[in-house]
This record gives sequence, C-alpha cells and structure tokens, in this order.
Amino acid sequence: MFDHQVKDAYYKFLSPVCNSRTMDGRRVVVSGVGRGLGRRLAELLVEQGDLVWGTSRNGDAPAGVQGQLSMEMRDEASIIAGAAELAAQTESVDLLINCAGTDARSFGAAHGERGPFDLDAETFNAVMEVNVTGPMLVTRHVLPLLRAGKDAMVVNISSQLGSMALAQDMGADTVYNVSKAALNMLSLKSAAALRGDRIGVIMLHPGWVQTDMGGSSAALTIDESAGAIVDTIGSLSIEDSGRFVRWDGTDHPW
Ligand SMILES: NC(=O)c1ccc[n+]([C@@H]2O[C@H](COP(=O)([O-])OP(=O)(O)OC[C@H]3O[C@@H](n4cnc5c(N)ncnc54)[C@H](OP(=O)(O)O)[C@@H]3O)[C@@H](O)[C@H]2O)c1
Repeated sequence: MFDHQVKDAYYKFLSPVCNSRTMDGRRVVVSGVGRGLGRRLAELLVEQGDLVWGTSRNGDAPAGVQGQLSMEMRDEASIIAGAAELAAQTESVDLLINCAGTDARSFGAAHGERGPFDLDAETFNAVMEVNVTGPMLVTRHVLPLLRAGKDAMVVNISSQLGSMALAQDMGADTVYNVSKAALNMLSLKSAAALRGDRIGVIMLHPGWVQTDMGGSSAALTIDESAGAIVDTIGSLSIEDSGRFVRWDGTDHPW
C-alpha cells in the first residue's frame, strides 16, 4: 500500500460517518427522548450497548447518546433537517422507535372537555399531526438509512386507546383515541409496504405508565414499561411485522 492509501484508510476509519453496524449493538433512533418513556428507552438502549440517536425539540437528551436531533413533530422541515443530520453521522439505522406523542391537553383542552365534539379543528388537527403525521414523516425520512440497516425494524408506540375492540368506552381524550387508531392503520400499511425490503413495522402499547401523560396513578413505572419494551423489541423479527403488541410482547386486541 502507498502512503496516501494508508492515510485514506486511516481517515476513513476515523470518519464520523459510521459505515456499518457496530460490533456491540444496533443503530437506533428514538423520538421524544427529552422526558418520559422515550428518555428511559434511550437510556436503557445506551446501557445495553446500542448506538442511540435521540430526537427532542428542546435539545435535551440523556447522557451517552450518540447524537441529539432536533425534531418538532408538527414541523416537516425540522424532521427533514434532523434526518439529514442523522444521515451525516451514520449510513444505516437498524431500529426506529417513534415514541414522541401527545394528547389534547398539550394544546389547551381542559381535562374534562375532550369528548368527540369538544375540540375545535385546530386542536384536533394538532394532536393528529404529532401522533400520526409526525411518525409517518420521521419514518419516511429515515427510510433510506433503515433500508441499509440490519434486520431493520420500526416500532410505533401506540396505545390500547387506539384499539377498536377495547376503547369505545375507554379514554377521556377522543382525538387521542382517533390518533392512535390512525397510527395503527399507518403502521399496518407501512408493514405491508416495507415487507419486500424486509423492514418490520410493529405497533406497541406500552401499558398505562407513570409519565407526565400517564399520571402518577398509572399501573406501571417507567422502568417496568421501558425494561419490558426493550426485551420485547429484542425478541422481534420480520416475522412479527404488522403485529400490535403489549409492552410484554403479548398480542394486543385490535
Ligand atoms: N404514559 C402512558 O400511560 C401511555 C400509554 C399509552 C401510550 N403512550 C404513548 O407513549 C409515548 C410516550 O408517552 P409518555 O407517556 O412518555 O408521554 P410524556 O411523558 O408526555 O412525553 C411525551 C414525549 O413526546 C414529546 N413530544 C410531545 N409533543 C411533541 C411534538 N410536537 N414534537 C416533538 N416531540 C413531542 C415530548 O417532548 P417535549 O418534552 O418536547 O414536550 C416528550 O418527549 C406516546 O406516544 C404516548 O402516546 C403512553
């Protein structure tokens, strides 16, 4: 080898653009790592040796992440810019967890006034943008990297409140129900569209969890939910694509 070839190889080795899956873990993107479930999932994945990129809208991310990406789910330009930043840092992604989500309270709806006819169009559409359009756009713009990933998987954090079978009488926030049902259909359509590329798409109900959204009386601690989700995701393969599962990997009713 000539000197310049040795030098080229060395600089390629040092390049911030990572060319293949790390020896010890997957390349993972988690949305909404500033707080709640997304933050804990990112922390646990880092702990187990994955290379994790986290999205947040205020620059916040847990220690140990490979990179923080600024993405506001209601702003397509920010999602495109975040995905471009990601593509400058890695050539592949093995796992995308669309976790960022919200309900109508974030847009000023009163706790007890979130029924089917309580919200104006602006509030209703804002929740749909965060919970459905946002994950669609994130997946769309990360897709080239997922196509280069190994056993690539998209996990859309859904909810039991999106279940047609269960949620007619559950949940005080109708647009939240509607948004998670729509996210499930988006996930099914994505699973079908990406089957040829061998990219799996899963819908996952995390349980009722003690976060800002779930409240302090929720059934599961963040650790219980996030720990089980990490184990479940680790057990999933392309054969599971299109499934709606609970945090513990059991099937969720549609
Ligand atoms: N907690 C539960 O009981 C429960 C049950 C079923 C499903 N889920 C689902 O689990 C996921 C995580 O929820 P959580 O309980 O962790 O809720 P959380 O504590 O309220 O956290 C919500 C996360 O979503 C992010 N987010 C909200 N609006 C956003 C926007 N417009 N653009 C970008 N990011 C935005 C937040 O970022 P900021 O800090 O910037 O606001 C935060 O990181 C959600 O999809 C939720 O629907 C939760």
